[in-house]
Amino acid sequence: MSDDDLNDDIPLPGGDLALQTIAMPADTNANGDIFGGWLVSQMDLAGAIAALKVAQGRIATVAINGMVFLTPVHVGAVVSCYADVTEVGRSSIKVNVEVWIRHKKTQEPTKVTEGEFVFVALDDSGKTRVIK
Ligand SMILES: CC(C)(COP(=O)(O)OP(=O)(O)OC[C@H]1O[C@@H](n2cnc3c(N)ncnc32)[C@H](O)[C@@H]1OP(=O)(O)O)[C@@H](O)C(=O)NCCC(=O)NCCS
Repeated sequence: MSDDDLNDDIPLPGGDLALQTIAMPADTNANGDIFGGWLVSQMDLAGAIAALKVAQGRIATVAINGMVFLTPVHVGAVVSCYADVTEVGRSSIKVNVEVWIRHKKTQEPTKVTEGEFVFVALDDSGKTRVIK
């Protein structure tokens, strides 16, 4: 068995690391777990960082598609957001964003959620702009 075969079993994040932060007590819900909304906010930022490189100017989020939360995030976790530009349209940019943490006990990379973020390039007056 080669090293490549062994690596096939290890789940890995898709896309490039766009943003990394630490989950803080202020970001928790009543159960002490991290708010889903906080995670979405981090994902929006990570997706925007990737989309800005393509749009080369003002953008706005127009849609967030197909998000599922797979595992809770605890205070102190290092939260890593990976972004992958999957499609560039006339004015729109689709970015798949994955959130990963390291499992508290095993330290194994664990996927928390993923979603498709759609950004639109805008001109100075807030109208859609053709991406060059
Ligand atoms: C973004 C905005 C300018 C779009 O205006 P619009 O005239 O309706 O634009 P269009 O219908 O021509 O859509 C623009 C692009 O977005 C895409 N788009 C629009 N809604 C979409 C959706 N729900 N899912 C995926 N793509 C979508 C269109 O397919 C189009 O792509 P293309 O130009 O690459 O072909 C307008 O909806 C807006 O200002 N929204 C608020 C954005 C915002 O403030 N976001 C922050 C959240 S508070």
